[in-house]
Amino acid sequence: MRIDILTIFPEMFPGILDVGMLRIAQEKGLVDFRLHDFRDFAKGLHRNVDDRPFGGGPGMVLKPEPIYECLESFIPRDGPQPTMIALTPQGERYNQNMAQELAQQDWLVLLAGRYEGFDQRIIDGLRLREISIGDYVLTGGELPALVLVDSIVRLRPGVLGDADSATEESFSFGLLDHPHYTRPVEFRGMQVPEVLRSGDHARIARWRREQAEATTRRNRPDLLPPGEGGERRDD
Ligand code: ADE
Repeated sequence: MRIDILTIFPEMFPGILDVGMLRIAQEKGLVDFRLHDFRDFAKGLHRNVDDRPFGGGPGMVLKPEPIYECLESFIPRDGPQPTMIALTPQGERYNQNMAQELAQQDWLVLLAGRYEGFDQRIIDGLRLREISIGDYVLTGGELPALVLVDSIVRLRPGVLGDADSATEESFSFGLLDHPHYTRPVEFRGMQVPEVLRSGDHARIARWRREQAEATTRRNRPDLLPPGEGGERRDD
């Protein structure tokens, strides 16, 4: 899988992309990251990538020219086209299903915005899919781009070993994950639940399911179907 990232702060990325699973995925040739500083395509003495908004108002808006020219520098006119995503607070809210869908693609382009946002002709003319990572505003799309990268790359075949399998984790069955324990059996007066040491696999599976449902009901009732605690949607 290839992932191109457009940003004016490429220095924000290596610390995340070059450690842990993402580093291993690169070393195994499972993912190829390419960073593009779109300021390189800005014209003029000051290489401005932003300008004041038409109609007035606070903040600056990212200009279309540097972003279009940056994309045209590496996307051939004919041939396979990437799935292109802009990270903005106005986008669809990101979730595990979207991560799974994007992990099926061979080529993604992520655009990290800054300032008040993108000139709308960047979104419309390039048919960008807008994605938000949550209902809060960050100073730019770089962290959201990294959130997408991390959640997508770990789902690619060969990235996680069996021990870290992505099939039994939060959101995989529409529920949050169950609690986990390791040794020691007793730590500062707190015990590992007896059922997990019983060796009775059916009982363990039932206990984990009940715990997952209880945690989901408590922390995320919106994930449950209506009638099972999911009728209350605060968002
Ligand atoms: N840029 C600024 N805030 C953002 C958010 N919540 N999600 C995606 N991109 C953003």
